[in-house]
Formats: sequence, structure tokens, C-alpha cells
Amino acid sequence: MKQFLHDRLPLDEVMTHLRKPLPKHINLLFSLGSLALFLLLLQAATGAFLALSYSPSPDHAHNAVKYITEEVPFGSFVRGLHHWGASAMVVIVFLHLLRVVLYGSYKAPRELTWVVGVLLLLVVLGFGFTGYLLPWDEKAYWATVVGVEIASTAPGLGDVVAKVLRGGSEIGAVTLSRFYALHTIWLPWIAFSLVGIHLFLVRFYGSSGKPKNTPDEMKSGKPFYPDQVFEDLLGMLIIFIILASVAIFVPVPLEDVADPTNAEYDPRPEWYFLFLFQLLKYFQGPFEILGTFIIPTVGMLLLLFLPFLDRSEREVLWKRPIALTVTSVCVVAIVGLTILGASAPKLETVEAEVQPTDDTQQITPLDTGIEETEEGEDVFDFELTDEEIEEAK
Ligand code: HEM
Repeated sequence: MKQFLHDRLPLDEVMTHLRKPLPKHINLLFSLGSLALFLLLLQAATGAFLALSYSPSPDHAHNAVKYITEEVPFGSFVRGLHHWGASAMVVIVFLHLLRVVLYGSYKAPRELTWVVGVLLLLVVLGFGFTGYLLPWDEKAYWATVVGVEIASTAPGLGDVVAKVLRGGSEIGAVTLSRFYALHTIWLPWIAFSLVGIHLFLVRFYGSSGKPKNTPDEMKSGKPFYPDQVFEDLLGMLIIFIILASVAIFVPVPLEDVADPTNAEYDPRPEWYFLFLFQLLKYFQGPFEILGTFIIPTVGMLLLLFLPFLDRSEREVLWKRPIALTVTSVCVVAIVGLTILGASAPKLETVEAEVQPTDDTQQITPLDTGIEETEEGEDVFDFELTDEEIEEAK
């Protein structure tokens, strides 16, 4: 068998390539990318098992998740791995990004590796946003109402994006199908294609090592295979043990089934969107668009084009005062806003808009949710009288 494969595949060349030494001084922080890859694969594997028993329709989704948690053998464990794995993925990808910033590894010639990485970060957040709706419980429904409403504030394309996401003017059956399709087909295809390009670029340029490595030091470290591979595998095992313990001991919440008439509900996104949610509170009225669109978009564009904006010489972060200040301010702001968002009460602007009036109630059409209101009508403006609700029932 070995001979058969040897005769047909360039195994020797592949092994020679993998055995090439890495730069000197590569430390554990250089394993974060591999850990992100491991978590992506774990999400794909656990998601594939969850999909066996899930049904993306408002009538069945909540029951299906309950069934997975309570009846399917190891269902609660697999759901736990998928749920906590998503949070771990965001943390690890963020730390990986910080490691790249710390050592200035985004600088020439690795600008494209960075750009693809930022796209991957967006995809990871996209997984979080689309996955949050799938249990179809109260928090899923209301967080998505708020999330889509925020997307709709983007000038020009906002309404179109919101309508495409909802599949109409309300969050309903079509929205759930679309989020499911995005979460299980579109985003995985995009993610794995981007990861392929990212890893190709990483191997093509080789690891960047530490900033002031001499040319000799750049090729006198340990070999990628077996040394680095072993360390990466050890890291994966540790992460898996931690996740498995959390999945066993910390149950994943499932609230009551989504009730579109429950305007009292306090909508809250997943923790990694809390900083954006908190940001909205500082910009009211005509300034709202600063929090919903301008600051997040400008922030993302600056991040995307960072290697082209920061032309300073490659050095470790603490020897680049401007980069150090900007990075620290961003990290403190994101962490601070997340903590404030987690402990804050209702989002005032949304609360004011979704409160039903005396004789009207805000409701999603009960059947498919694809009924259209007038062009450009806002989701929060869609109100039915009590008689109309009875009729719809
Ligand atoms: C699903 C998400 C991601 C995966 C699976 C992934 C995977 C990897 C792997 C395996 C490496 C090589 C090992 C290492 O240096 O840690 C790497 C390197 C790199 N990644 Fe990522 N990455 C992801 C997201 C990102 C993000 C969000 C960024 C930055 C915005 C980024 C930028 C880079 C850069 C510039 C390198 C080259 C580092 C060097 O040569 O020293 N990656 N990535």
C-alpha cells in the first residue's frame, strides 16, 4: 500500500517541505492559528450531527432543539460542544489576530494573508449571527429582530440587505430558512475556501517568526513536522478537554419558543456582539447611524487595510508606540463595552420602538412570514389591530 501511494503521489516532496525548519523563537502563540482551524473543523463536525435532527421551520425548530438536548443520545453534549465551541472560536481567532499584530506579522509580504484573515473573522461572526436564530426561542428571535434592524440602517443598501436577510419584511419562516442555509451551506463554503487560501499563503511565505530574527535564525528553528505539529495537536487536545468539560457541566440555555407579540422581551445579542449593542446607546436620534453603521464599517475597513496603512518598520508591538496605543485603545474599548453591555438594562431606542400601543400589537404573520408590507417599511412599524390578529389566527 505504502509503495502504491509512493509511486503515485509526491509524498517525499511533501515530507521534505513539512520537515523544513521554522524560524527560531516560535512560541505557543504561533499555535493559535492551528487552534482556530481545529475549532472550525469541530464546529463543522458537531454542526453536521445537529443537522441530522434539526428542522428549520418556526413550527419545528424549537422542538427539534429541545429533542436534541433531551432525547438524542449525546445530543446535549454535541450541542454543548457546538455552542461553547462557537464562543471559543471567536476568542481564539481574536487572540490569533492580536498575536499577528503583536509581532507585526501582517507586514510585507503577508498583507494578503492578513486581508484573507479579516474576511475569515467576518465569516466567523457571520456564523455566530446566523446560528443564534436557529433555536427559535425568545432570545434568538428578538436578537435577530434587532440585528437585522441595525443592518437596515446602512445608507443605500441597508433596506435591501435587511429584506434579503428576512426574505420579506418580517422575521418569519423564510428568515429561518435563509439563516439556516447561510449557516450550513454558504458560510461553510466561504470559510473553507478562505481557509484554503489563508493556509496556502501561510505555507507559501513561511512563518514570519519574530521581527528581528536574522536570516540565519529564520531557518534554524524546530521543524514544522513533527515538532510544531505535535505542539499544535497538544493544544487542540487541551482545548477539546476544556470544551468537553464545559459542554458536560454547563447546560446550553433554551428559552421559551419565540413569541413575536412579546414586545416586553429584552433583546440581547450573543456576548461577542455586545460591544456593538452597547455602542448604539451612545448615539441617539440623528446620530444613531454613527453607532449602527459608520463606526463599525470604518473600523472594519481600517482593520482590513491595516498592512497598507501602517508602513512602519517591522518591530514587536511595544517598540511601535502608535500601533501600541491604537491596539490598546481598541482592545480596552471592545472589552469595556462588552462588560457594560452585559450588565446594562434594555436598549432604549429599540424598546421605545417595539412597545405596542394600547389597541395594537406588533406581530409577525403567523404562517410563512413572507407577507410584504409597503416598500421600505420598517419592521418595528408593522402593527396589527387585535381584530387582525384574531383573523390571522
Ligand atoms: C478561521 C479563522 C482563521 C484560521 C483557521 C487561521 C489559521 C491560521 C494558521 C494555521 C496560521 C499559521 C500558524 C500561525 O501563525 O498561527 C495562520 C497565520 C496567519 N494568520 Fe490566520 N487564521 C484565521 C484567522 C485570521 C485572522 C482573523 C487574521 C487577521 C486578521 C489572520 C492573519 C494571519 C496572518 C497574517 C498569518 C501569518 C502569520 C505569520 O506568518 O507569522 N488569521 N492563520
